[in-house]
Amino acid sequence: MVAAEPKSASHVVLAYSGGLDTSVAIPWLKEHYGSLVTALSVDVGQEGELSGALDRALRNGAEATKLVDAKQTFVEEFLWPALRANALYQGIYPLSTALARPLIARTLAETALEHRADAVAHGCTGKGNDQVRFDVAIHTLAPELRILAPVREWNMNRDDEIRYAQAHGLEVRVTTDSPYSVDENLWGRSIEGGRLEDAGRPAPEEVYDWTGRASEWPREPELVKVGFVEGLPVSVDGKALDPVALVREMNRRAGRHGVGRIDHVEDRVVGIKSRETYECPGAVALLEAHRALETLVLPRDLLSFKAGVDRRFSDLVYEGLWFSPLREALQAFVASTQETVTGEVTLRLHQGSARAVGRVSEYSLLSHELATYTTASSFPQELAVGFIHLYGLPNQLAHARRAAARAGRTANSDAPRPVLEAAR
Ligand code: ARG
Repeated sequence: MVAAEPKSASHVVLAYSGGLDTSVAIPWLKEHYGSLVTALSVDVGQEGELSGALDRALRNGAEATKLVDAKQTFVEEFLWPALRANALYQGIYPLSTALARPLIARTLAETALEHRADAVAHGCTGKGNDQVRFDVAIHTLAPELRILAPVREWNMNRDDEIRYAQAHGLEVRVTTDSPYSVDENLWGRSIEGGRLEDAGRPAPEEVYDWTGRASEWPREPELVKVGFVEGLPVSVDGKALDPVALVREMNRRAGRHGVGRIDHVEDRVVGIKSRETYECPGAVALLEAHRALETLVLPRDLLSFKAGVDRRFSDLVYEGLWFSPLREALQAFVASTQETVTGEVTLRLHQGSARAVGRVSEYSLLSHELATYTTASSFPQELAVGFIHLYGLPNQLAHARRAAARAGRTANSDAPRPVLEAAR
């Protein structure tokens, strides 16, 4: 049973980004709930200066601030399992925002418990996926915490927020003038709102940042080699890099060529379709490389079965169900398939695309001796004839039975001819 929520909270930990929504949330929480506010920023590799944003939070009324550097955890605990699962929602979105939410929510819950706060707060609206991801994660990990969502409760639009900020003398970033809502982390940028809401019109160039200007993408293609060990990328062009540096390097290398721009009409968990724009250069390039390596080293039946698991994993991440036994089980299955996903993939970056053009592995299942069309082939071609007869037998039988039955209905003919006889 859900009891009526008290209209006060003594101490709230707010997931604070420094943007307009979470900046106005500080005075609003104090006014409406009489709370002390701790502003928490979780560094998942977003650009921009979080410590400066936290100083502003103090000037805007927060009692305390906390900055958690979660970049390495983000890559190792969230991005790497997603990469191993070739995770793309609806086959196109690398889940950059979706993957960061459970980590931010977990950090929020931990901080709240540490500070003996009675509530957490986030800046999500009531129309998106992010509220689902935050709330489900908090309910799962720390059900005793109340969840306050100023923007959702309050129902203010952007103009109202700007007026509220001015009336309260808040210091907000100049970039809050931007008509777009941007979410950023190591795995990509999500850009929504403003002119993008018209799905009929191309996204204006100005929404892109990591992929520069299309007119300036290099005319010449560039090759980049990504080394993998057990499904995890470990090197770029032979140089070993730690996980965070590797993702950054791939964002830079692929972003320069415009790789990873995504323009998609997406189905949200809350039942609406919306036009979504992303740029995820590193993610798109790494996903392409990983997928290409799997095709070389995994057997056909495993590839096919795993594609279904990958898809389920992707849906579940999108739907905010990270902290679930099903995600853990799917992830364990995926991990068990990666032992041989070791090798190197050559990607060709050019004018917005990243394509695998070479792949090598000590576990390669590609046998030149079997596949070659030259006389060096050891493939036993004579065995193919019998194989093909048995392989096609079910269809042959079905076809013959139906043909005979149809003939029987019209011409009242004899029993069907023996199927195998027809094969001789
Ligand atoms: N549609 C994406 C998702 O649900 C991106 C959400 C972006 N959030 C934002 N505040 N701009 O994962």
